[in-house]
This record gives sequence, structure tokens and C-alpha cells, in this order.
Amino acid sequence: MLNPHEIPQLGEVLISREAIEQRIADLGDEISRAYQGCSDLLLVCILKGGVVFLTDLMRHINPPHAIEFMAVSSYGAGIRQSSGHVRIDMDLAHDINNRHVLIVEDIIDSGHTLQYIMRQLEARSPASLKICCLLSKPSRREVEIDIDFLGFEIPDKFVFGYGLDLDEKYRNLPFIGVVKSHD
Ligand code: IMP
Ligand code: MG
Repeated sequence: MLNPHEIPQLGEVLISREAIEQRIADLGDEISRAYQGCSDLLLVCILKGGVVFLTDLMRHINPPHAIEFMAVSSYGAGIRQSSGHVRIDMDLAHDINNRHVLIVEDIIDSGHTLQYIMRQLEARSPASLKICCLLSKPSRREVEIDIDFLGFEIPDKFVFGYGLDLDEKYRNLPFIGVVKSHD
């Protein structure tokens, strides 16, 4: 397994593998309780960052559920900053009309990405629409978003690992790390 000391860009480990595992088990319990008796739950994973989170989380969710994937990107800004202009790169393969949809996302920063996704999916008349997000940087928020199930609040630092990329790499790390600063 990859040793943290072999990653030159890693400043520090912010959230350990054990802490992530524990929190996801608890989140799975919360979600299972919230959707108890629901027979039409659909987890919508936002690619690519949400994929590691989804695959671990779904194994802690008891009500029977389906999964779907959607890819979005924001454009017109720097690589580590959202512009507020979001587009769908890959849309859902099926209709979500009358289904109970839970969005599974890696991180909410400014909030523009999730606001766009919520607007898009709300317009398709799901039976319900909620958000489960692993990480939130509240100090960066530009638009208000209600997160129904949240893993961790984190400070305003660029993080990677556990699905989140650093220039498209290191999504496989079992922990969440902070990029080394140069000052
Ligand atoms: P928002 O639209 O500003 O909320 O940004 C959300 C998207 O930006 C996320 O889905 C991530 O893809 C990306 N993002 C924001 N902060 C980070 C970070 O610290 N590490 C990796 N990706 C991030
Ligand atoms: Mg994302």
C-alpha cells in the first residue's frame, strides 16, 4: 500500500482511514434510518470524486437501493477554484421521476456545483431529493445549500485522496490529505 512518505505533495493527513471508515458506518446508519421502509431509493453518485465514497457508503445502507452516475464539471475558472459555471458531462441513464434520490458527492466548497445539480434534478420531479456529502468547507460557501447527511467539516485547505484528486491523481489514497503549502 502507498506510504504517505512517498507522496511529495502531501503536507499532512487531515482525516485518517480509520476516522473515515467510522464516520461512513455512522452515516450509513443515519441514512438507513431516514429511508427505512423506502423501496425506491436511488443513490446518484457525482463522478469522479464521489465514487470511492459511494462504494464504501452503499455497503452500510440497508434499504434496497439502486445506483446511478452523473459527471459534472465547472469551467472558466482556475483548476482549484469553482467558477459557478457548471455543465453536465455525463447525464443519468434513467428517469428519476417519482424516485427517492440521494445525491452522493465528495466535497462542497463554494456550493455552485451542488446548487446546479439540485436545480437540474429537482426539475425532473423526484419523489424526494437529498444530499449526502463527505466533506464541507463552510468558510468557502458562496451559495447556501442544505446538506442532509455530512461526513466532516474541514478548514479552507485543498485536500486530496479518498476519491478527491490532486491533478487527477491520488484518488486511491485511503485517507484525506492536505496539499503541502509552499510558504
Ligand atoms: P464547488 O462548486 O465550489 O462547491 O466545488 C465543488 C467541486 O470542486 C467538488 O465536487 C470537487 O470536484 C472540487 N473541489 C473543491 N474543493 C476541493 C478540494 O479541496 N480538493 C479536491 N477537489 C475539490
Ligand atoms: Mg465532486
